[in-house]
Amino acid sequence: MRILNFGSLNIDKVYKVPHFVRPGETISSLGYQCFPGGKGLNQSVAAAKAGHMVCHAGTIGADGSFLEEVLSAGGVDTRYVRKTEGITGHALIQVSEAGENSIILFPGSNYENDQDYIDEVLSKFSQGDILMLQNEVSNPDYLLQKGKEKGMRIMLNPSPMDDFLRQADLSGVTWLMLNETEGKEMTGEEAPGRILDWLLRCYPNLQVILTLGGDGAVYRSKDEEISQPCYPAEVVDTTAAGDTFTGYFVAAMVEGKSAQEALRLAACAAAITVSKEGASVSIPQRSVVEDRM
Ligand code: RIB
Repeated sequence: MRILNFGSLNIDKVYKVPHFVRPGETISSLGYQCFPGGKGLNQSVAAAKAGHMVCHAGTIGADGSFLEEVLSAGGVDTRYVRKTEGITGHALIQVSEAGENSIILFPGSNYENDQDYIDEVLSKFSQGDILMLQNEVSNPDYLLQKGKEKGMRIMLNPSPMDDFLRQADLSGVTWLMLNETEGKEMTGEEAPGRILDWLLRCYPNLQVILTLGGDGAVYRSKDEEISQPCYPAEVVDTTAAGDTFTGYFVAAMVEGKSAQEALRLAACAAAITVSKEGASVSIPQRSVVEDRM
């Protein structure tokens, strides 16, 4: 079973702020750093650091070569990463003193993934392989449809949430990993239990992992429901916490671990990520996570 992540590659411009900028307000940041990021890149790095070979596919522009180097250094197979002359996707990230973040995306070359490129990459994978998807690249509908047709097991992180996702056919998705805000937007429900009810009613075979910030995460399938508390952490920057959770969860699934074991591993890895600044640079190696557990 192989893992393909068809995902975003971003340059993260991170500004430490006293509070998130309000409408009409101008504020000075307390600090600035530039990091490799993108939900796709972060999730590939997380799965690779968890100990699994991940192939990443996605497009970087002329200014994004270092992202490919970061993937390689993190143990990710980059043979399907494509380069264009466009501008690499980037994210403007405000990080508050409480460690919360607020993100503006410029998709850039992440929106240059055309159907021919997708077909070419997917032709190298087959039934039973895992396809990791988020919503920061072009043609997400085509990726979902083709992954389903091939019988790939799809992990979808519906982020950022938009109209496409609200109406998308998720019948080919095996695992849906989303946070509470995304769950509310997708279902129109408020309470976590009702969000899960809604999703399982529409897609009875789906396995949903709903992350609840400081309240941990809940997993529900047609057979079981599991609550996973957070591991204690001193929160410095929550960026890539969800990505770490996703990558580690997928890696545990590949190993044949139970959902309960996968959730514990993913929650512990995410707790370490939030205690450091930055996105992919804050994702821990598997040995560090196991020591902590
Ligand atoms: O999930 C965190 C990521 O979201 C950041 O790295 C940023 O690039 C955005 O894609």
